[in-house]
Amino acid sequence: MRITGTGHASMRIDTAAGSILCDPWVNPAYFASWFPFPDNSQLDWETLGDVDYLYVSHLHRDHFDAAHLKRYVSKKATVLLPEYPTSQLEDELRDLGFTRFFKTVSDEVHELDGGLKVMIQALISPTDGPIGDSSLWVEHDGVRVLNQNDARPTDLMRFTELGHVHAHMLQFSGAIWYPMVYELPQSAKTAFGKQKRERQFDRTWRYIDDLKASWVFPIAGPPCFLDDELWQFNDIFGDEGNIFPDQSEFVKEYAKVGGTNGVVLLPGSVSALTADSCETTHPVADLDEFFANKEEHLKAYQERQRVVIEAEKASWSHPEIDVLAGMKARIEPLLDESVRLAQGVGGPVRFDLTSPEGDVIESILVDFPGKEVRIAADEKVRYRFRTERRLIEHLLFIDEGDWVNSLFLSCRFSAARIGQYNEFVYAFFKCLSEERLQYAEGWYESQRPDAEDITVGGFSFQRRCPHLKADLTRFGIVEGNQLTCQLHGWKWNLETGRCLTSVGHEIRSERAAEPAPQPAA
Ligand code: FES
Repeated sequence: MRITGTGHASMRIDTAAGSILCDPWVNPAYFASWFPFPDNSQLDWETLGDVDYLYVSHLHRDHFDAAHLKRYVSKKATVLLPEYPTSQLEDELRDLGFTRFFKTVSDEVHELDGGLKVMIQALISPTDGPIGDSSLWVEHDGVRVLNQNDARPTDLMRFTELGHVHAHMLQFSGAIWYPMVYELPQSAKTAFGKQKRERQFDRTWRYIDDLKASWVFPIAGPPCFLDDELWQFNDIFGDEGNIFPDQSEFVKEYAKVGGTNGVVLLPGSVSALTADSCETTHPVADLDEFFANKEEHLKAYQERQRVVIEAEKASWSHPEIDVLAGMKARIEPLLDESVRLAQGVGGPVRFDLTSPEGDVIESILVDFPGKEVRIAADEKVRYRFRTERRLIEHLLFIDEGDWVNSLFLSCRFSAARIGQYNEFVYAFFKCLSEERLQYAEGWYESQRPDAEDITVGGFSFQRRCPHLKADLTRFGIVEGNQLTCQLHGWKWNLETGRCLTSVGHEIRSERAAEPAPQPAA
């Protein structure tokens, strides 16, 4: 088996039974803030993209690069599709011209032509990626690889029971905005950043120890930041609170816990992997020297990308957009439907929108308890975000339904909050569409030990649709013994619980108890 490093979480896996390209990412993501490190744009993508299979782990834009997939990846490639609750990944790939899909079942090994075996484990909670993240396991000719990328399964048991893994690729660096964007004294930011950096490494060691692979490949980060405004986030200043350590830092830290089997891949590095050995060649003569000259590499990369960043920035302004009206139209109907998320947020969230010069020109309140979006008065808020107005204009202009996979990951904002981190705030802004919101609401609801039943038309059944968890008090219609969920039109027989639209997806249902007879007057 041959593994070619193609940058960030991307790699090409070549076997005698076919090749798989994983997560190719080249163009900047999240408002041109993240770039792959090291630069992978000079690779021979025409050749790399001529593959038998494509695997896109999830829809985060540093894994799903639409322009690159469209231009460089063969449309003859069969997409190995994770089993996600929504069809968004498949839909977006179809829009790019892919027509061949192999729909995997999560945690099930599939044998493809030539004896190539694959298994994709899909994670589907609202906190996993943009509602979905996954890992790819591959076996050919007795050699096994786990590309865990940035997925966070609770344990790796499903993979260990399939036999010893020879190569384990996983994330070790940061991929979030915390704590850098928080309006805190620098000393606090450094302390929180240091803790975060340590936690990231600890988590990585735990996964490595769980799997006990022969070789460990640090991948899926860090990104680099080439815009002058974000340059300080690169780990080149000796800041122990920086959450974006690079691969050479991984090797150093790994050695401290006794790790000696780390393999760093640069874009263009190639590892020849067998059950007993891993021989790696690099496109540079000296790996240590490459990382020692990181700042120089970044500066030259920055110069090459300046024009790209400027072009992106020029596309963000849409002064004709009424941001208050746009946010009202997008968010208020969702606030109305939101129960668990709105309760979880528990207070108002304010957006201070600034001019490019940094002056606040508009303050908009998303009032979760009051279920409305309005101009902010002088009131206490749960969270406050400060960002350029033109970024919100752009999100509204492109009708973006996931502000985490766009605004927040861009790190082009600052934040303040009262109290602890609140996952519901970010879960809500990740779910700015009816389908996603219903899914997240239902997911949180189903995590409660006493998941609720409702009684309609003489039947008691679960409140959340077994398909994508729509609230059946809103979307369910009972006619005779048949339930229809209007969100996607799926049907169930309430006598038997059987789904009439798709295999599986039974509903918990029974005839409602007759009301007790009233005593005679
Ligand atoms: S959520 Fe899709 S049919 Fe109910």
